[in-house]
Amino acid sequence: MSNVDKSTSAFMEKLVSLCKRRGFLFQSSEIYGGINGFWDYGPYGTQLKKAVEKLWWNYMVETRINVEGLDSTVICHPKVWEASGHLAQFGDLMCDCRDCKARHRVDQMADKAVCPNCESTNLTEPREFNLMMKTYVGPVSDEDHAAYLRAETCQPIFIDFHQVRVASRQKLPFGIGQIGKAFRNEINPRNFTFRSREFTQMEMEFFCKDSDAMEWFEYWKNERIKFFRKLGFTEAETRIYEHEKLAHYAKAAIDIEYKFPFGWGEVEGVHHRGTWDMSRHQEFSGEDLTYFDHDNGEKITPTVIETSVGADRTVLALLCKAYDEDVADSKKEGKASEARVVLRFPAEVAPVQVAILPLSKKLTENAQQLFNDIAPYYRSEFDVTGSIGKRYRRQDEIGTPYCVTFDFDSLEDNAVTVRERDSMAQERVDVTQLLAYFDGKMR
Ligand code: GAP
Repeated sequence: MSNVDKSTSAFMEKLVSLCKRRGFLFQSSEIYGGINGFWDYGPYGTQLKKAVEKLWWNYMVETRINVEGLDSTVICHPKVWEASGHLAQFGDLMCDCRDCKARHRVDQMADKAVCPNCESTNLTEPREFNLMMKTYVGPVSDEDHAAYLRAETCQPIFIDFHQVRVASRQKLPFGIGQIGKAFRNEINPRNFTFRSREFTQMEMEFFCKDSDAMEWFEYWKNERIKFFRKLGFTEAETRIYEHEKLAHYAKAAIDIEYKFPFGWGEVEGVHHRGTWDMSRHQEFSGEDLTYFDHDNGEKITPTVIETSVGADRTVLALLCKAYDEDVADSKKEGKASEARVVLRFPAEVAPVQVAILPLSKKLTENAQQLFNDIAPYYRSEFDVTGSIGKRYRRQDEIGTPYCVTFDFDSLEDNAVTVRERDSMAQERVDVTQLLAYFDGKMR
């Protein structure tokens, strides 16, 4: 259990600062003053996010007979967003305070007649703001050439349903998964990456018969909860929010929420989308998107169960959870009362899984050979600068579960010291056994 009080805004400031300093995450276009709602992942952040995406892809696509993968374009035919309802409905009702100039989402105002910022009643009428990001395709910037960056990765899955089904010879029930960027012109981006304007979704749409849909909904809900447990999130840190107000076509919807420092927040949604998406694309495209059910000898419109998780919110939850400081443990390595900042990531997602640290620059060549042997299998880093204590602290701060020290004895006994991040325990391991040692710990 962490002793750090994570419920304060000071904690978020500390985390944001660590992320910037150690190259996890920082504002996009910072040299131009930044751009609100856009974030860049630095070297460690990229490794972390890619590891999360890889785990999701493996868990949801690669290890399942009945799920296929897709990598579609960000820009689709504009009619897709007409059919999906995004152009007409995907917006927030906003109002402005004429006194303090703050802009508010009406559905988030406890008292709709009073500004939550300055308590003035001098408010504008609520106005609709569409969240779709607009662009133009081709050399002419007029309405005939308008297009939109996708607001969710699932719509291309619906429109490619038949192509994927035919190519993969899948029969109902089966799913299609996709990881990719989504864009929303959020009115009020906030809480670090939690509400961004450009973000990555990992979505899986499962096509089934309506009569089986609730069973699949329960199945996928449980699978997704299992995924979060695999990432180390406990029952106390997560909760399931059951939607009471459902879209007219939906039969069930839940959110998986994480207790962020700024409050409970949705990380994933599991939705029963009915036949809405497939029916609408059939109507707007004029194409037959039905499926011939051999069991009953009839054409049906597939019902869809969706699992939709944000990669950035998952990364943010992992960062918040992993952050820790300990003083007592630092004494073990002779650094009395020096606070140790440590990110306690699960080894599967740690940006660096193994750090190779030659004790002296004179040992660089031998240690480099060790790096070459380990790096194809585990995300590895080679660091030769600074005292060994400082190098351990640097690795703790980015959450590296194992440090390997190559010392002068290594030249004689062909063994290295492996130091574990959380316990700081050290053990001597024969170099020929090192990969097997890590396989035992991390696979
Ligand atoms: N296809 C369904 C869909 O897009 P959603 O609840 O709007 O549903 C799904 O989004 C997930 O995408 C969320 O649970 C969240 O993790 C992520 N997400 C949505 N909007 C986001 C934003 N502005 N910034 C970061 N992540 C976001």
